[in-house]
Amino acid sequence: MKTITVHASSKYDILIENGIIDHCGDIIKKNTNAQKIAVITDDTVNDLYGERTENSLRKAGFDVVKFVFPHGESSKCADTLIKIYDFLCENGITRTDCLAALGGGVAGDITGFAAATFLRGMDFVQIPTTLLAQVDSSVGGKTAIDLKGGKNLVGAFKQPVCVICDPDVLRTLPPEIFSDGMGEVIKYGMIRDAELFDLIAEHNRETVWSVLEDIIAKCIGIKRDVVEADEFDTGERMILNFGHTLGHAIESYYHYETYSHGSAVAAGMCMMADRTCDKETAERLRKCVQAYDLPVSVPADIKELVPLCGKDKKRAGGQLRFIVCRNIGKAEIHTMQFDSFAAWMGK
Ligand code: NAD
Ligand code: GLY
Repeated sequence: MKTITVHASSKYDILIENGIIDHCGDIIKKNTNAQKIAVITDDTVNDLYGERTENSLRKAGFDVVKFVFPHGESSKCADTLIKIYDFLCENGITRTDCLAALGGGVAGDITGFAAATFLRGMDFVQIPTTLLAQVDSSVGGKTAIDLKGGKNLVGAFKQPVCVICDPDVLRTLPPEIFSDGMGEVIKYGMIRDAELFDLIAEHNRETVWSVLEDIIAKCIGIKRDVVEADEFDTGERMILNFGHTLGHAIESYYHYETYSHGSAVAAGMCMMADRTCDKETAERLRKCVQAYDLPVSVPADIKELVPLCGKDKKRAGGQLRFIVCRNIGKAEIHTMQFDSFAAWMGK
């Protein structure tokens, strides 16, 4: 088993091993004094892993209750959150009990936010079941729900008491959701670790399974380092946004229908690399992205995307902050007047 310890405002372990989901009960027992656990999950994940998770929790002596919501981003909303609070009240969950987020980033974000706010805060654990959730959303304590006005607009920083990461569960992911997570995995190589990038680039969507546990652990290690340096996202944590400034613009331009987050980030990274890297480096990134069935560009004209780049949280006082990787493995934060950025991108 690989263990990665995060030293943030609280200290916790991320445990990575194939098949570990069947031992989640004993692991959680070591990390909380709770008697009762409320598992929060979506219907798809519940059908696949609900019973195994519950069995392990019960075997470890926990009293278990479970809340299941319909899968998909539209469930990460105030309506589901209120239903979760009501469910916790109805089931007598107290501050000393624990929530378990079983699922992808949607389950993780909404459960984490419920744990940050219900009874002014209680323990929660993450059992991430998508690649994106394993390498990104379950680590670092960002929790949130969406509003009609945008994604992740209401949230809190709340670190889990532990993260239980089972790469085997990724085998049931639909291929496009697996690829989506690979967009973020490639990003880690680009921003921090040229050797990791080489390992990812040696493989493709079919062959990567043989090294996936290793890759996941390396990505989590990078995210851990970044979170430890800047837990509350006031500086260095921004490097995690490589490819995201254009990526968010792409998602928004296509009304969140045509490109998934990871696809949009992949295209965003390639489009940025075309402007900042030498030809050979940009081509290596493109090849790697294609090997995981992700797009290297989008049909929309850059002039139509650029105005949307200013619409996310990275714009302040007419200035835009965005991430540039000139070489594989090294990221820089750039700040530019939005007008200069628009002119530079449009060239
Ligand atoms: P998701 O949770 O909706 O999962 C995607 C789909 O995969 C769902 O339909 C789910 O039912 C299904 N699924 C999950 N695990 C499965 C498995 N093992 N086998 C088969 N199907 C499975 O979405 P996601 O892509 O995991 O996460 C996206 C969310 O994460 C967004 O809301 C985003 O804002 C958030 N996010 C948060 C952070 C953070 O730091 N908190 C970081 C990145 C993304
Ligand atoms: N996913 C970006 C962050 O955790 O900061």
